[in-house]
Amino acid sequence: MNSRSLLTSSAARRLLRPVADLIDQRIERRIRSAAAADAAGRERLGDAVEVLKHQQLTLDLLLGSSGRGLSRSVSPGPLNRLHSEVAELAGDRDAAVRNVAAAYRLLVALESLGVGRIAGGTMNICGKLGTIPLLDPPNDEILEIGTLYGMFSAGLIRMMERDGRDPSVTIVDPFAGVQLQPGNPRRADPSGTPVDERAVRTNLALAGPAGTAARIQRGFSEDPGTRAAVSDRRYGVIVVDGDHSAEGVAKDLRWAEEIAAPGAIVVLDDFGDPKWPGIEEALDKHLTGDTRFSYLGKAALSAFLRAS
Ligand SMILES: C[S@@+](CC[C@H](N)C(=O)[O-])C[C@H]1O[C@@H](n2cnc3c(N)ncnc32)[C@H](O)[C@@H]1O
Repeated sequence: MNSRSLLTSSAARRLLRPVADLIDQRIERRIRSAAAADAAGRERLGDAVEVLKHQQLTLDLLLGSSGRGLSRSVSPGPLNRLHSEVAELAGDRDAAVRNVAAAYRLLVALESLGVGRIAGGTMNICGKLGTIPLLDPPNDEILEIGTLYGMFSAGLIRMMERDGRDPSVTIVDPFAGVQLQPGNPRRADPSGTPVDERAVRTNLALAGPAGTAARIQRGFSEDPGTRAAVSDRRYGVIVVDGDHSAEGVAKDLRWAEEIAAPGAIVVLDDFGDPKWPGIEEALDKHLTGDTRFSYLGKAALSAFLRAS
C-alpha cells in the first residue's frame, strides 16, 4: 500500500476526522469574524461618509454660490497661480501669500456680514485686495469707479489699514438699483439686494471710521458734474470697475490720467475676461498713446498700472 492509499483508507479517515473537524471549525470561525469585521467596517465607512456630507453641506452654506452667484471655495491650481502673480507684482512671495490669505478671510467675512456681495471671482478679488497695499501707493486717497455694494472698498480700507496706512475713499456709481452695463439686460442681482447708496453705507460702516467717512458721489464717471465733484485731489489708487465697454473704459482711463498722483496705482478690473473683451481692447489702445501709465502686470483678472 503506497502512502496516498494509506491516508485515504477508512481507518486513516476515522483517525483523522477529529483533526479535520477542528480545522473546519477554525476556518468557519475565521470566515465569520472576517464577515463581521467587514460589516462593521462598512458601517464605519457609511458613518464617515454621512459626517463628510454634513460638513460639505455646512461649508456650502458658508462658501457656496447661493446668494452671490459664485462660490468662494478655493482650488490649489488657481491659488498657486495667484500667489505667483501677486509675488511677481509685489516682489515678495511671503508677503503675497500672507496678503492673499488675509484678503480671502476678509472677503468671506464681509460677504457674511454685509449686504449684497463683492463682484467677481474669488481669486480676482483676493488678487486686487492683496496686491494694492503691496505696491505701496504714493498716498492714501482711493477712488473706486463702479462700486456695486461698496464692499470691495470696505475690504480695501481694511487691507490698507493692515499695512499701517490711513485710507480715505471716494466712490462713484450711478446706484441704479441694479448693476448697469451697456448692452446687458437690467436684471436683479444674485444677492437679491438692490444696488443703492444705503447698502453701500452699511457695508462701508463694517470697515470702521474710514468706511463711515468715505465720500460717495452718485453719477456716471463720464459725466462732467460727477468728475468735477471728485477731481479735487490726486489719487494714490484708482480702481476702474464701472462701465465695462471699450468706450467706457477708454474714458475712465483718460480721466484717470488727469487725477492720478505721481506713482499712483491704477487697477483695471476684469482685464482679460472673455466676457468683457472691451477692457483689454481699451487698455491696449490706451497704452499705445501718450500716457503716464505703464503696465506692471496682472493678477487673476485685474491689470495693474503705475502712473509716472
Ligand atoms: C462690476 S460692478 C462693480 C463691482 C465692485 N467694484 C466690486 O468689486 O464689488 C460695476 C458697477 O459700475 C456701475 N457702473 C456702470 N456704468 C458706470 C459708469 N459709467 N460710471 C460709474 N459706474 C458705473 C454699475 O452699475 C455697477 O454698480
